[in-house]
Amino acid sequence: MSDSSPKRPQKTGPTYRFATDQDGSTEEGSKPQGYLAPFNPTDITAQQAALDMMKLTSEDVLYDLGCGDGRFLFAAFLSVKGGLNCVGVEFDRIYYERCLTTLATIPPCKDKVTFHHADVCTTDLTPATAIFVYLVPAGLKLIEEKLHSSLRNGVRIASYMFSVPGLTPVKTDSTKGGCKVHFYDSTSLPS
Ligand SMILES: C[S@@+](CC[C@H](N)C(=O)[O-])C[C@H]1O[C@@H](n2cnc3c(N)ncnc32)[C@H](O)[C@@H]1O
Repeated sequence: MSDSSPKRPQKTGPTYRFATDQDGSTEEGSKPQGYLAPFNPTDITAQQAALDMMKLTSEDVLYDLGCGDGRFLFAAFLSVKGGLNCVGVEFDRIYYERCLTTLATIPPCKDKVTFHHADVCTTDLTPATAIFVYLVPAGLKLIEEKLHSSLRNGVRIASYMFSVPGLTPVKTDSTKGGCKVHFYDSTSLPS
């Protein structure tokens, strides 16, 4: 007997229920080319540890790869006198929109902090002079070559919680609760 029930449309890739927010809203969609981590914000102590290591100046261009609600970039901007150029890349529309909402409430950031609703894996990182990441190990592995290439161009990298594969950190700090922040520069690359 043939099945006459309507067929569900086939999805073109694995589906993923995006990280749930505190308010319970979710969004379903296809995974980006590389899904690097679920949403989980960097706590304020770790933000400070990363900022201390990165020694940002107003000349820097700071990227947060998978920037969530943008909190690290706003903290970074406000930590530097006169601010600095910051770029957040976020695939999940809910968090990307939160970045824009917060941006509108901090007028000094308006011309210098930008957000891209985009996949980190296909984002050009050449303008960056400093990069912050908080991604899971499998996500870091997916962008390992991109990060190594940035280091070869003189970029400094801070990674919260997990280490970047194939690199030797210049410094690792433990934050309250034992979580780590790793700092890398060109000397971290394998010889
Ligand atoms: C652990 S959260 C870190 C958020 C923020 N960087 C922070 O430290 O507060 C990781 C973020 O990466 C985003 N993400 C995962 N894969 C991505 C991809 N391929 N491109 C852009 N964003 C991605 C997730 O949606 C999530 O918001």
